[in-house]
Amino acid sequence: MPDSLTTFAYQTFQQGKSIFSFTHKSLATALINRLSPGVEGTQENPRMGEVIKDVRRSYDRIIQQDLEDVDQGIYPASLLFDNPWEDFFRFYPQVWLDMPRFWQRAKAGNFRDFSPNVDLAGYPNYYTQNFHYQTGGYLSEDSANLYDLQVELLFFGAADSMRRRVLAPLRKGLGKFADVEPKLVRVLDVACGTGRTLRMLRGALPKASLYGVDLSPTYLRKANSDLSKLPGELPQLSQANGEDLPYRDNYFHALSCVFLFHELPGPVRQKVIDECFRVLQPGGTLVICDSIQLVDSPTLGPIMEGFSDSFHEPFYRDYMQDSLRDRMEKSGFEVVGEETHYMSKYVTGRKN
Ligand SMILES: C[S@@+](CC[C@H](N)C(=O)[O-])C[C@H]1O[C@@H](n2cnc3c(N)ncnc32)[C@H](O)[C@@H]1O
Repeated sequence: MPDSLTTFAYQTFQQGKSIFSFTHKSLATALINRLSPGVEGTQENPRMGEVIKDVRRSYDRIIQQDLEDVDQGIYPASLLFDNPWEDFFRFYPQVWLDMPRFWQRAKAGNFRDFSPNVDLAGYPNYYTQNFHYQTGGYLSEDSANLYDLQVELLFFGAADSMRRRVLAPLRKGLGKFADVEPKLVRVLDVACGTGRTLRMLRGALPKASLYGVDLSPTYLRKANSDLSKLPGELPQLSQANGEDLPYRDNYFHALSCVFLFHELPGPVRQKVIDECFRVLQPGGTLVICDSIQLVDSPTLGPIMEGFSDSFHEPFYRDYMQDSLRDRMEKSGFEVVGEETHYMSKYVTGRKN
């Protein structure tokens, strides 16, 4: 384990984030109940106590796993404390200010609510929605600024811990290319969003050539601005659809893809995995991280369904029952690992 001071500091830091998130969610629920009595928080689930204990245990386990991965030398301890504090303080009031609009959309079931200055041309239809009833969907500056904070609040401060779980299988996969000069090792993060996973990758692979693609220009701008403050070479970011990656065949040594698949229709999931297979070198590894599914934790079924409805996740119910393993095998991958940590699952495939 890392030294006891680091362990204590990290556990305390996480405890603080989870208490903050819990307080935030309780206040938000109370507000919503006040605005629309009886809409939220009235569903009785006799097993809820058990479910909460399970979630709490898996939360503690992922924090422990984070420390163990540092101990194994997979990434430096500094990554554990990499947190966008400045953004969080700056944008937290906006989370509250945006809540009435979020709530109006949720109540009206209105998920195609874009201001006229958002240009929707050229994006796939499944994409131009207000995922999470978020103002601007994935296409506004405000949404890009609020996204990291909202995901941390949703997962009680463990979103980055979940992202870091891709690093161990990815580094293991890169072992196949131990003879390649580190700066010639190419790693792509598909649907990189605001660049949180790329930050983790930079910490674990300081010399590798990193790449990121995403459909959202505003998220990419945010990623570019945040990543340019890091030491090391700036990852090359491109606006692109995961269904049609702008790279030649067999180009990358490894790929990661975090929290994308639950937001895609089933056939698109397959297309993206097919593309990942195409751009990977033989011997290369793809690590997918996404939400846990029904098969991983049937007791969490009601929470998953609640998530799908309350946060406008139109493809989540279908995703809950999909098999990423089958899809990867269909594309040609050999599935070499499957794990779950806290609220996420990880499927690792190798192109032989
Ligand atoms: C839930 S966010 C995850 C972002 C990031 N990977 C993370 O860990 O926070 C989903 C991301 O997928 C992007 N996205 C959705 N469909 C896409 C597609 N077909 N091709 C590329 N990016 C896509 C969105 O713009 C958004 O940034």
